[in-house]
Amino acid sequence: MKSNVALIGFMGAGKSAVGRALAAAAKMDFIDLDAVIEEKAGRSITEIFAREGEPVFRRIEAAITADAAGRENTVIACGGGVVLDQANIEALGCNAVIIYLSADPSVMLRRVLNSPEKRPLLQMIDPAAAMDGLLKHRKPLYEAAADLTVNTSDLDIDSVVQNILAEMRKDESFNFPKRD
Ligand code: S3P
Repeated sequence: MKSNVALIGFMGAGKSAVGRALAAAAKMDFIDLDAVIEEKAGRSITEIFAREGEPVFRRIEAAITADAAGRENTVIACGGGVVLDQANIEALGCNAVIIYLSADPSVMLRRVLNSPEKRPLLQMIDPAAAMDGLLKHRKPLYEAAADLTVNTSDLDIDSVVQNILAEMRKDESFNFPKRD
């Protein structure tokens, strides 16, 4: 029986906001892998990308993901690139139901541009084109990794959380931690 939920999806899909609300509603713990990476590395993701480059970031991300995969009763908000390494998905999938939060690219772009959080992979002259290129490669990876997909384009956080909770209660492979 699985006791974690891993949220995957592109930047701006709502993984952190939905994850925090889902954990509160289901009385589970919550971790945001980007935040753990920054805490453990002692520097921001922007700094890691700028000084050491993406491959170093991906190595740190893989180690933090493997650690997080060993937790129990935890909602894990993953970084958008976690699907690039199949080992991350295999590790998470051992004890997590994997939920893909999808959304229209225009919605994700608006959210990302309005967010105080910096996304080095979209700090380009044309972020829409950068997003397009990344999405082409990643969409099939998100879809292949997902046990369940929820589109967040038109849904508020609470509706997304209610959708997920309803699915989790139906899912017999998932040990819903604090059933009421
Ligand atoms: C990335 C997504 C970011 C962060 C890093 C790389 C990606 O996380 O891990 O900037 O490759 O898609 P969010 O999806 O939480 O923004």
